[in-house]
Amino acid sequence: MGAPGEIHAGLGSGFARIGIVTASDRASAGEYQDRGGPAVIAWFRQALPQPFEAVSRIVADEQAAIEAALCALCDHEPCRLVITTGGTGPARRDVTPQATERVCDVLLPGFGEQMRRVSVQTVPTAILSRQTAGIRGQSLIINLPGNPAAIDVCLQAVFPALAHCLELIEST
Ligand code: MTE
Repeated sequence: MGAPGEIHAGLGSGFARIGIVTASDRASAGEYQDRGGPAVIAWFRQALPQPFEAVSRIVADEQAAIEAALCALCDHEPCRLVITTGGTGPARRDVTPQATERVCDVLLPGFGEQMRRVSVQTVPTAILSRQTAGIRGQSLIINLPGNPAAIDVCLQAVFPALAHCLELIEST
């Protein structure tokens, strides 16, 4: 397989504007600096052959706030790809997958399965993430855990399917 830049050269209208939602009570309150959102942006900057616009939101771990951010990014910006980071675990305040499921028309469970399958090879606690993915309108939403190390592993795991998925969504 070639480098990501080779695979996706000539494609990429789906990557033109990428939405990033950081779900974190502490980051949204300014108690600590968001590291997940910038890690997602940095990852795509090194992976994509073309520049893209990043549209970032930082919200509390509140389902309504996450749903509102997802809808705004998918429907109004619009971003054809929206990545969330954080809030996928088993804690009571972790509600990102519920918000994603609520706003999506259809779910794509293969994304979460693949990210956990790859992650658990080095991080046993990866089974704790309920991360999922789905389609809202013509946008693909993918959940990632909040740990920047997880962001790299998870995006690498699903990146080979991203361009094709975005193409299929756009053509329907
Ligand atoms: N996956 C990878 N690749 N690397 C990690 O460090 N952390 C796990 C899991 N998945 C992790 C991972 C842990 S400890 C938790 S609690 C869940 O992701 C949920 O993390 P989140 O609540 O930040 O989304």
